[in-house]
Amino acid sequence: MERLVDSLFALMTLEEKLGQLTQLSGQSTEAGPRVRAEDQARIRAGQVGSFLGIYGAAYTRRLQRIAVDESRLKIPLLFAYDVIHGFRTIFPVPLAEASSWDPAAVERSARVAAVEATAHGLHWTFAPMVDIARDPRWGRIVEGAGEDPYLGAVMAAARVRGFQGTDLAAANTMLATAKHFAAYGGAEGGRDYNTVDLSPQTLHQTYLRPFQAAAAAGVGAVMPAFNEVNGVPMHANADLINGVLRGRWGWDGVVVSDWNGIQELIPHGVAASRPEAGALGLHAGVDVDMVSAIYLQDLPAVVRGGRVLQREVDEAVRRVLRAKYRLGLFQDPYGYSDVARERAATLTVDHQAAAREVGRKSIVLLKNQGNLLPLAKSLKTIAVIGALAVDAGSALGSWSADGRKEEAVSLLDGIRHAMPSAEVLYAKGADVEGSDTSGFAEAVRVARRAEAVILVLGERRGMSGEASNRASIDLPGMQEELAKRVQSSGKPVVVALMNGRPLAIPWLDEHIPAILETWYLGTPMGSAVADVVFGDYSPGGKLPVTFPRATGQIPLYYSHKNTGRPPSEEGNTSKYLDVPWTPLYSFGHGLSYTTFGYGAPRLSRRSMRATDTLVVQVDVTNTGQRPGEEVVQLYLRDDVGSVTRPVKELRGFRRITLQPGQRAAVTFTLRSEDLAFYDRRMNRVVEPGSFTVFVGGGSADVKEARFEVTTGTQLGDALLR
Ligand code: NOJ
Repeated sequence: MERLVDSLFALMTLEEKLGQLTQLSGQSTEAGPRVRAEDQARIRAGQVGSFLGIYGAAYTRRLQRIAVDESRLKIPLLFAYDVIHGFRTIFPVPLAEASSWDPAAVERSARVAAVEATAHGLHWTFAPMVDIARDPRWGRIVEGAGEDPYLGAVMAAARVRGFQGTDLAAANTMLATAKHFAAYGGAEGGRDYNTVDLSPQTLHQTYLRPFQAAAAAGVGAVMPAFNEVNGVPMHANADLINGVLRGRWGWDGVVVSDWNGIQELIPHGVAASRPEAGALGLHAGVDVDMVSAIYLQDLPAVVRGGRVLQREVDEAVRRVLRAKYRLGLFQDPYGYSDVARERAATLTVDHQAAAREVGRKSIVLLKNQGNLLPLAKSLKTIAVIGALAVDAGSALGSWSADGRKEEAVSLLDGIRHAMPSAEVLYAKGADVEGSDTSGFAEAVRVARRAEAVILVLGERRGMSGEASNRASIDLPGMQEELAKRVQSSGKPVVVALMNGRPLAIPWLDEHIPAILETWYLGTPMGSAVADVVFGDYSPGGKLPVTFPRATGQIPLYYSHKNTGRPPSEEGNTSKYLDVPWTPLYSFGHGLSYTTFGYGAPRLSRRSMRATDTLVVQVDVTNTGQRPGEEVVQLYLRDDVGSVTRPVKELRGFRRITLQPGQRAAVTFTLRSEDLAFYDRRMNRVVEPGSFTVFVGGGSADVKEARFEVTTGTQLGDALLR
């Protein structure tokens, strides 16, 4: 690889080098995504290294031929796209997949996405998005794994393994991109792109952790975030990109800017001109310039004026060429553009079955009073109510690549297929947004005619995702009013929520007996939901994010600090006058059609040195009547530290299946890195003292045990000097 890179290098002009660092965008047309004529000329001239948004086996082959046959250096192109949760067979949105707490399922999902995407000529995906999100107003919460760095790290690594496989050169594996580096989810006010101001401890302990896991899993690319962190826009953040990501972590992949991110250094107010913006980006370690074309057009003059940037250009070009080499493109530039494979590997029965399986694993049973769910298959008349029940497009969720709504199973269709001999009535009731109540009467009529009602409420898919923030996380429009009317019909009501963020739904929680969080589950959504509603599958998902009772509680997350005055009903404590301080549904919460009993956690020792390991074991028993899946969770608290520590932090979990009456002993091993934190001087330390271990089926539903660390330790060298 190095020999090939060197030999190319010796031949490259500065313009050709900057061409490799340039990524241009395709255009969507009737015929599919296409490249403009002038950009085709750029391929010939060696002025472009990669495209985003271009796919299709035959078309990418044509473009690749221009690069390989008609450009001077014959360097193959890279084709990249946002393949976030499926390419044509759409899987659950990432927040939903994180609710499965099943890394093997999440890995499979990314694997299928890669199989389909690579068959369409794609080499590179802008996923996984690994941003920690603790503000559900922020629309992009839907794209990540929720609020917790440990769960986020596990999911990040699983997705990287799924996309990249074990051999990047294989024609069905693709380069993954951990994004958005870093702390994108920390935007003030939940407004996308907004300012982020964080302590170094929180940045490193919370927001950087999933990136570090992705880097350790060998992720091939990283994308900086649009936001600034502590005054420095991420596209100019040399300390975090070259310093931490490349320097401290020893990661050697490609950094690709976000869309126009280099140019945006100007409105951020750290660059006065395009050349300045380009120099800042390159200097920070951003190798590839997505769409601003600043590297191509404005850097030649800058580079010719100074030697330092020349070295940085060379390093960036080497990284891009190595990525192309690792993908096998110098051996076979057309390996990914295979028309026969494209036909055979798209929306297969297996892929759809896999999406349905991951879909049902991702559903969270929030409430099930009187075991209303599952509904009996002997029901004769069922009412399905709600605009979202027929919204197959929304089932696909934000970012759906080449997914088609005509191929998606809406909730109503899923229920109809599952109950062929029942009469399934439908009424819209109300739109998702707006103030129209004219459909209420019909909805109530339909409810009265049925033995049970499935009421589908939530958000359209466009209400979360990029730049789709909400100042209130209540149920939009007249949907809560609709729920009140339908509930007053006296019929048993099951609510199925379709949404891309936690919603504040205290009224539903108080009055509706059964609530399912179904998020957006992708192409087979309706079938996956029907599997759960009628009991073919017992739900086992758990929330990867806290559900507040009211928007005003945000940010609300389980691993908060205790404060000097922890909330209580009385006195001057850290509470609200108008809303309880507790969440509506806590992190890790999720019910099943069966029940699970937990024994007390057993520890292998009561005292240890920081360098020892501690084994925690817990007996979990299926105490109900049906088989079921449970996510056994382990949390840790450092009881007293030199800086304050969270009341609880996830340090292990396992999703297990138990038959009625069956018991399993689940084992976790804790090591020094599980006990460590950044102290005031940014030393990563384990301090001596008492720790509490919590084990249970949710962050608020645990049994505990204590142990003592007798001697502390420091991991690695300090981050600050
Ligand atoms: C902007 C988004 O922030 C990023 O996540 C995405 O990969 C790029 N656009 C390319 O579509």
